[in-house]
Amino acid sequence: MSRKVVLSGARPTGSLHIGNYLGAVKNWVKLQDEYDCYFFIADWHALTTGYEDTESYRENIDEVVKDLYAAGLDPDKCSIFLQSHLLEHAELHLLFSMITPLSWLERCPTYKDQLSQMDDRNIRTYGFLGYPCLQAADILIYKADFVPVGEDQLPHIEMTREIARRFNFLYEEVFPEPQPLLTKSKVLPGLDGRKMSKSYNNTIALKDRGDVLRKKVMSMITDPARIKKDDPGHPEVCSVFSYHKIFNESEVESIECDCRAGTIGCVACKKNLYGKLAKAMEPIHARRDEIDADPGMVRDILDRGTKNARTIVESTMTDVRRAMKIDWK
Ligand code: TRP
Ligand code: SF4
Repeated sequence: MSRKVVLSGARPTGSLHIGNYLGAVKNWVKLQDEYDCYFFIADWHALTTGYEDTESYRENIDEVVKDLYAAGLDPDKCSIFLQSHLLEHAELHLLFSMITPLSWLERCPTYKDQLSQMDDRNIRTYGFLGYPCLQAADILIYKADFVPVGEDQLPHIEMTREIARRFNFLYEEVFPEPQPLLTKSKVLPGLDGRKMSKSYNNTIALKDRGDVLRKKVMSMITDPARIKKDDPGHPEVCSVFSYHKIFNESEVESIECDCRAGTIGCVACKKNLYGKLAKAMEPIHARRDEIDADPGMVRDILDRGTKNARTIVESTMTDVRRAMKIDWK
């Protein structure tokens, strides 16, 4: 019996933060037990916006692999690989670029948003416009059934389905239409209460521990109305409280009462959180130590993942070339 295929990609951002973990990777770890899973690092996607500074890519890729392993992805259960190690992604992207109407790409909401936001960098390029077409190739080359993504990626999955339909209609039925698996997760704010993001410099990294972690927790923004220790607080506006809801379920009610009554101080409340957070991340840090101690392990994981991925992409590209009648010998 063959299992359904799940595929997802992560940009090589360097160290993952606990927002990435709760929002995506934790779910991937669950999926690896039930599905045939492919998780890859989308280094070509990163190039579409960051083609000038490529210096840090190597290190960032290693960091992501280490964090994926630390988070619990198991190379015995799923395939982890690097997009650019499988040139077939590029071949399929090229072929899709022949059949994808420009209007589909130009009206893509993520394209329009980013163009208006990022005028400091020149992303008026052919590659950036074609981003969703590359993503469609990433997904369809594995004939994926499910793609776990956040809400922001839904337009790309929809375009992937449209490209699959168009290919199947023009040539032969080669591609199934993948379904998004929306990851519903409680959104964790950053240290300053805004959305957690590397660009805001307000993250807690998955690898943060000890003093680094403690200092970050102690620096979190709380309810600004609490000036004295016994001022009544409003937990609903406090980021520390959002963390208690996730990492300290057994005490969350009493913390809420005590905060409103002004009977706990924020320092004690944060110290408590630090303890809970450190405990929750212990298994992740143990796995991180394991991979940090073994210099060949990142390479090994990627080699094994690439090998698994290779058999699939080769077979899909044979189907594609045959369907398009371009399998000239
Ligand atoms: N576009 C995705 C992001 O920015 C990354 C990505 C690239 C991806 N290819 C993918 C995600 C294929 C899912 C499937 O997060
Ligand atoms: Fe936030 Fe805790 Fe201070 Fe209340 S007591 S404002 S929940 S840190």
